[in-house]
Amino acid sequence: MFQQTCIAPVNIAVIKYWGKRDEELILPINDSLSMTLSTDQMCAKTTASASSNFKENVMWLNGEKVAFDENPRSARCLKEIKRIASAKGQPKFPLNLKLHICSENNFPTAAGLASSAAGYACLVYTLACLYGVEDEELTQIARQGSGSACRSLDGGFVHWKKGDNPNGSDSLAHQVISPSSWSNMRVLILVVNDSKKKTSSTKGMRLCVETSELINHRAEKIVPQRIENITKAIKTKNFTDFAEITMKDSNQFHAIALDTFPPCIYMNDVSHSIAEFVHRYNELAGETKVAYTFDAGPNACLYLEEENVAGVVAGLKLAFPNDNAGNVEYVKGIPINGQSYEAYKFKSNGSNLLKYIIHTKIGEGPKRLEECEGLLNEAGEPK
Ligand code: DP6
Repeated sequence: MFQQTCIAPVNIAVIKYWGKRDEELILPINDSLSMTLSTDQMCAKTTASASSNFKENVMWLNGEKVAFDENPRSARCLKEIKRIASAKGQPKFPLNLKLHICSENNFPTAAGLASSAAGYACLVYTLACLYGVEDEELTQIARQGSGSACRSLDGGFVHWKKGDNPNGSDSLAHQVISPSSWSNMRVLILVVNDSKKKTSSTKGMRLCVETSELINHRAEKIVPQRIENITKAIKTKNFTDFAEITMKDSNQFHAIALDTFPPCIYMNDVSHSIAEFVHRYNELAGETKVAYTFDAGPNACLYLEEENVAGVVAGLKLAFPNDNAGNVEYVKGIPINGQSYEAYKFKSNGSNLLKYIIHTKIGEGPKRLEECEGLLNEAGEPK
């Protein structure tokens, strides 16, 4: 049996990917740019095994058995990896061996926290390592699993260029700066208490391309300049410019979603209160200390530098108090220094509007793990 286990990170976009020009190849209508989060707090983990004893390709996804070949996106990723392995010659094992794959997220998928990006990035990287093609260009394969997954194959800040070729050969992601270049960059993920099922990104963006008149203006006239400006802000570690562009782009993405017919509404009242909190915090501080961004759901992702974490968390505890704190840890992840530091007074928006907060930071790309950390046993079944 041949086996490989890897982990891959979550990434959160600061310039959003929204809209495809090719649904099949997953080619976007605009460039996007994201920050990779540390795998210490959140990651996907995948084990893939190949054996002549396996009868069919099987996958266990977060404990549930799924028919691998019936998911066209995963099937395509495997096909592409095998194509590269075959083109390179001398594969490590016969390419017709069937696979058992087990994949898990160490954070709740239901929380809508970019799980497909980490999941597909991890699948593609693990398969690439298994077949010995990990040094090849993999972002165009991960992109065909889930668009945003191509940005999880590297650490730090990552730019996915939309490309122009109809076959997608130039729709690739590359690193803008390494995680060590802005190592004090931190993230607070605010998980909003919400059970409402949202329109998936795939469906939402398809409807948006079909019905919104604003989306093309964004793709053609706004994003190119924003990519240039935010790249400059990131390279010079200019937090003020970075934060302003990030917040404006999140707002514009949700405006476009609202311009879809029927409208896609992802942010809720709590999300809007969080945005308001951030603007108020920056106003009281007299400078931009923190930025928000929201994906296709109500949860917020706040970007800030390490020295401002204690102050912002203290403010959040006043504005969004949580009386569960005794049972569930309200702030999970990296421990916060100077916990009691309360810079400003905030009025409460109400109790328990947030489920919990995850404190994490900028991080590295995917990694291989030791065999003993695998999710499958010697028989190729989940442990
Ligand atoms: C709002 O990558 O999940 O998070 O390519 O259809 O799988 P598919 O969509 P997906 O969309 C992510 C949208 C977003 C913005 C972003 O991450 O850039």
